[in-house]
Amino acid sequence: MTKSVETGIAVTMTNKPAPFFDKLRQNANLVSGELDLLLGEYLLKGEIARPPRLMAAIRHGVLNGGKRLRPFLLIETAALFGKSGPGILRAACALECLHCYSLIHDDLPCMDDDDLRRGQPTVHKAYDEAMAVLAGDALLTFAFDLISDETTCKDAQTRVELAQLLARAAGHGGMIGGQVLDIAAETSILDEAEILRLQSMKTGALIRFAVEAGAVIGGASIVERQNLAEFGTIIGRAFQLADDLLDVTASSEILGKATGKDAERGKKTLVDFYGVDGAQARLQELLAEAEVLLDPFGPKAATLRQTAKFIIERQN
Ligand code: IPE
Ligand code: IPE
Ligand code: MG
Ligand code: MG
Ligand code: MG
Repeated sequence: MTKSVETGIAVTMTNKPAPFFDKLRQNANLVSGELDLLLGEYLLKGEIARPPRLMAAIRHGVLNGGKRLRPFLLIETAALFGKSGPGILRAACALECLHCYSLIHDDLPCMDDDDLRRGQPTVHKAYDEAMAVLAGDALLTFAFDLISDETTCKDAQTRVELAQLLARAAGHGGMIGGQVLDIAAETSILDEAEILRLQSMKTGALIRFAVEAGAVIGGASIVERQNLAEFGTIIGRAFQLADDLLDVTASSEILGKATGKDAERGKKTLVDFYGVDGAQARLQELLAEAEVLLDPFGPKAATLRQTAKFIIERQN
């Protein structure tokens, strides 16, 4: 049951300085290793049994590559304040569990109906729809188990704050609300402002959470936290614009998921408004905006700067 399925698409390396990619890859290995342990056969206090087929479906949806970008952002933001360690890794894993759940459900036939994710069959293809729904439900639940655990964060007040921030980012006013607006966008014409709002919810909220949670764990001042949360908002916007652009320009082999899906489903994205060149120019503007927000942190923020650049230049 605990056999690893980590063979999917990870990060495609392009014209980036190697040390950054080494760091991203090391982080991905660390996160995957921890998730492998957390989603193994070992029962936590209060758990009665972990049904093998459910665990296999969960592991398929989690240990299948992935850039582990959100955990990286959380860990690197905490590192800005000199904070690191196993608790922070667990908080990062909680976020990745929630992200993986969102992908498993996003791929379902009743949603985007996708067969390929991270270069492998989606969970409902490899297992079945009921198992994909339940694997997603379990991962969402487990994310809150992990983030509220004493081993993750000793300070109870901080744990509660993180759990609430995550709930608000993921729920009806955040990621889920964004997914609902995204489905509606297949059958109604949205203007640019409406698409921006939709995207800030479906994708931006979790990316912003990654950075803000790192700031909370790091003990940031109010001003530092506001600055970083705004940085998270901007790179979240850039992340989904890049995703929409890749849907038009990339190959399915490199992306590890189907392409041309947005047009196929009649979904207008910002690429329809800006065009491919315009979208690329907009990404450069967003990068500049993001970099300004890191100025107060000086050279310490070098990795976050490179991450913002990676987000706009990524190939998968
Ligand atoms: C894909 O997210 C889904 C979106 C929010 C657009 P990622 O591109 O971070 O996917 P993985 O985790 O690396 O597979
Ligand atoms: C997915 O957006 C956002 C969430 C999973 C919350 P997309 O539907 O554009 O993501 P991909 O392209 O399938 O990865
Ligand atoms: Mg979708
Ligand atoms: Mg999708
Ligand atoms: Mg997409």
